[in-house]
Amino acid sequence: MRKPFIAGNWKMNTDSASAVALAASLAEELKGVDTVDMAVCPPFVYLQSVAAALSASNIALGSQNVYFEEKGAFTGETSCGMLKDIGCAYAIMGHSERRHVMGETDELINKKVAAAISGGLLPIFCVGEQLQDREGGTTNKVVSGQIKNGLVGISAEQMQAVTVAYEPVWAIGTGLTATPQQAQEVHAMIRGLLAELYGNEIAQSVRIQYGGSAKPGNTAELMAQPDVDGLLVGGAALKVEDFAAMVKTIA
Ligand code: 13P
Repeated sequence: MRKPFIAGNWKMNTDSASAVALAASLAEELKGVDTVDMAVCPPFVYLQSVAAALSASNIALGSQNVYFEEKGAFTGETSCGMLKDIGCAYAIMGHSERRHVMGETDELINKKVAAAISGGLLPIFCVGEQLQDREGGTTNKVVSGQIKNGLVGISAEQMQAVTVAYEPVWAIGTGLTATPQQAQEVHAMIRGLLAELYGNEIAQSVRIQYGGSAKPGNTAELMAQPDVDGLLVGGAALKVEDFAAMVKTIA
């Protein structure tokens, strides 16, 4: 069985004091939860202080991005080794905001997925269609292209390190959530594609998170879908009571 996995993507929010306070409150509130894997992904500058606040907790640390090179003249970038060094277990890659605001390509994201796995980080590999894709009926084509291109050269064994996050762009930060059926349809399509690429056993073991206006009120119905294995949470992850309520609903 796939263990549920919820991660909070704090995006470019919080400050040094509120990031630590949020992490410390979550650690306290979620003590003893062991049936759900949990992670928070604060802004880079607060990773180390959040790591300290989580040190005795069951909540893992993740980054919101990573660069694929190990070191050198890459101004402003952060390597897998650096992230491992300060206690990150996970790294988000391919988030729609990086694809569509910063212009990241499938090819770049693929290099990040490969580098993260080799470097001992667990990728949270994001895919998702834009509104025009959904309205034009090309959701499956777009998402399957992102999956295939993002996973070029990744072996079945390596795939076991990967969590896929399906985040329909039109549902991110908009208050519009995909219906549980819409989420399930795409999750099932992704799992079917993973079975084609890696065989059924691997496909059944990979966790697929849903993201896009996930909140306490829709957690149960999303998680009730057979191929929804967890959530990647933006706005609701910034409120202790909301994120904790979501974890407790899943647990
Ligand atoms: P919201 O939950 O704020 O819609 O954000 C989702 C997301 O992008 C998580 O990575």
